[in-house]
Amino acid sequence: MKSILGIGNALTDILAVLPDDSLLQTYHLPLGSMQHVDMETGDRIWEALKGYGVKYVPGGSAANTITCTAILGMTSGFLGKIGNDDLGNLFKSTMEQFGVRAQMLYSEKSSGRCMVFITGANAERTFADYMGATLELGPDDLTPEFFEGYDYFHIEGYLVQNQELISKAARLAKAAGCIISIDMASYNVVDSNLAFFHNLVDNYVDIVFANESEARAFTKMEPREALDDISSRCKIAVVKVGKQGSMVKSGDEYHFIEPWPATPVDATGAGDTYAAGFLYAHSLGLPLKACGEIGSIIAAKVVEVIGTKIDIPRWRDAKIEIKQLIEKYA
Ligand SMILES: Nc1ncnc2c1ncn2[C@@H]1O[C@H](COP(=O)(O)OP(=O)(O)OP(=O)(O)O)[C@@H](O)[C@H]1O
Ligand SMILES: [Mg+2]
Repeated sequence: MKSILGIGNALTDILAVLPDDSLLQTYHLPLGSMQHVDMETGDRIWEALKGYGVKYVPGGSAANTITCTAILGMTSGFLGKIGNDDLGNLFKSTMEQFGVRAQMLYSEKSSGRCMVFITGANAERTFADYMGATLELGPDDLTPEFFEGYDYFHIEGYLVQNQELISKAARLAKAAGCIISIDMASYNVVDSNLAFFHNLVDNYVDIVFANESEARAFTKMEPREALDDISSRCKIAVVKVGKQGSMVKSGDEYHFIEPWPATPVDATGAGDTYAAGFLYAHSLGLPLKACGEIGSIIAAKVVEVIGTKIDIPRWRDAKIEIKQLIEKYA
């Protein structure tokens, strides 16, 4: 079995179901928005949420992907930065419970967290993020040893905001012989680091995952043309179009991948799990189409649950469906 190392923000979601909007008003958070807060505000919000009962769920885009590759059976490692505190310990130990080698670095700052206010009859989500320790991850933290022995290196696009960090990580991963993949993460990150993203994909990245808006930000084109453009810059391009499915291209080979059937309740985590299924299938040497299909199978499971963690019955179903699909290609 091949191995994969991911690098990303080590963030823990702190979820609270609230009776009304009053806390949103207290902290000037528009309903449904996502705002960054400083440590002081972050601490006050956390204290206030505790009064309503909170649930802690370690997350972060690459961390979610890597947790899924571990569950699928790949040797999986994660590189990220936490504080020397309870939340950081929870992040690390939860990753380890899933079998991930959590290669954590430590900061003086407290651990990053994403506080989620769940309000109203439709369980609307409003976010206040305190990044803390995770933003302290820098190029000087990285040494060649972290990358040794890994076949794949997966980058969370959010980290591209620290260009020096990602330049060094990509160089070290390449030197270690890793296949490099990136999930573009967000259209505004792509927009504000466009030249850097182009250079990274042209020179280092083998596999690109982008959704519709990220692909548009990267190429100024609509999904199908964007796919062609991205695939001309790297080995494999993947453009995901939500519930319509995804498109994959490598050289002249192109496939449209239908979504796997699902009863969706919450799309959170679809992209992260898709990447995990795709990379797992790729590591088994499966054809390009099968990689997209296996990504779609597990993405279809995560949209059936609230949050980013697929439950045990759905993992069991996914593994059966993946096995059947692999047999079809044998
Ligand atoms: N309603 C759905 N039913 C079945 N599969 C879905 C559904 N929504 C998404 N998917 C699957 O998940 C994949 C990725 O979803 P999407 O295009 O939303 O990625 P994303 O925008 O990167 O997601 P995220 O918001 O998690 O970052 C799709 O290509 C599809 O296979
Ligand atoms: Mg995404």
